[in-house]
Amino acid sequence: MEDVLQAENQVSRRSFLKWTILGLNGLVGLLLAVPGLGYLLTPVLRQSGPRWVRLGPVADFQDRTPQKAGFTYVSESGYARTERRAFVWVRADDSAPHGVVVLSSVCTHTGCNVAWRDPEGQFVCPCHGGRYNLEGEVVAGPPPRPLSRLPVKVENDELLIQINA
Ligand code: FES
Repeated sequence: MEDVLQAENQVSRRSFLKWTILGLNGLVGLLLAVPGLGYLLTPVLRQSGPRWVRLGPVADFQDRTPQKAGFTYVSESGYARTERRAFVWVRADDSAPHGVVVLSSVCTHTGCNVAWRDPEGQFVCPCHGGRYNLEGEVVAGPPPRPLSRLPVKVENDELLIQINA
């Protein structure tokens, strides 16, 4: 009878050790898997699309002729994160929301950057001669659409624009 009790005790101790080791292995595996899964799933869960970027103090944009305003943003593609630079054209306009109009610098033909030419009062594209007026409407050349007008908002006296990146 004593032998049977001792054998049951050993089985139970062996079983306890087995389940404890399995449990610890599972816990370690889980702790290692969470960061790995996070790394793998981050690109899937990452949100892309419209985002707001800061251009600077709104008081800096009082000029009625377009001013070049640069900004940086982070472009995310899969696992790659790249800091990019871009610019827009900003001018004061009392009839516009927050008193400013912000036009994309990207020509709607094939995407070159347009430049403001004060003497002509037009945006000119250096690539194929596209031209736009102060409002960003096409006045000459191959561009199929006006320059994009970007949504703006002001927070803490800073001008923000909405970009798609
Ligand atoms: Fe501007 Fe072609 S890219 S006119």
